Amino acid sequence: MRKKIVAGNWKMNLDYARAMALVDAVLQQSDDAWKTQIIIAPPFPYLAAIELQLRLRTNIFIAAQNCSDHKEGAYTGETSAAILKSIGVDAVIIGHSERRKYFRESDDLLEQKVDRALENFLLPIYCCGETIDDRNDGKQFEVVKDQLTNGLFNLTAKDMSAVIIAYEPVWAIGTGVNATAAQAEEMHQYIRKLLVEKYGNDMAEATSILYGGSVTSKNAPELFGCKNVDGGLVGGASLKAEEFVSIVKAMEAAQRTSPYPPSKGE
Ligand code: PGA
Repeated sequence: MRKKIVAGNWKMNLDYARAMALVDAVLQQSDDAWKTQIIIAPPFPYLAAIELQLRLRTNIFIAAQNCSDHKEGAYTGETSAAILKSIGVDAVIIGHSERRKYFRESDDLLEQKVDRALENFLLPIYCCGETIDDRNDGKQFEVVKDQLTNGLFNLTAKDMSAVIIAYEPVWAIGTGVNATAAQAEEMHQYIRKLLVEKYGNDMAEATSILYGGSVTSKNAPELFGCKNVDGGLVGGASLKAEEFVSIVKAMEAAQRTSPYPPSKGE
């Protein structure tokens, strides 16, 4: 069965004391027995300290919000996947729409970043998603297909098996307007179909596809109840422990009550 995941993307928020307090609270309120994989993506300077804090816990991973497309060397201000790995980071968010927009990251560049992550055994969380104009023009499927084809689908099947995909419609990020469960499921189903076409059924069934964009504890149960939604990439709501843990609990509950029969091999 594919992994169910709730990831918190803190973006450029919280000072050090608040960040450490937030991790403490998440640790206290969550349980290692839960099946949902929790991932926390704090700002870079806190990664090493939080990794230490999380060491005793098996079901919480730590992710960076970005990594360099270069291996090492004279790239002032950049952080390589190898450096991240060396401090115990598990995963890295690649191609978030804010990186695509504000830092003009192209699919070609993101493809390099995915390669660097995989070379260093970091799990890439590869983001895709359309703008509101794309959707109004009926181009959402085309845009997502291009982002996946250009940034990800050159991977071998073996490499692809380490990738987590996050569908994040740009119009839903930080706006308070989430995609409806029907809209999310429609796109996730489409992404899984693309995976079937490129990598076959088993790989497609094993790949976790997260939804991101204004996920809250209120809308999480409905979104996570969708057959092809395997969890969430949570921004604003991940900055409050209780709210974030409630979202994780919604994923736990969705797994217990899933009406869908287990896939082949479960
Ligand atoms: P949001 O952000 O939950 O605040 O909409 C999601 C994201 O950008 O990953």
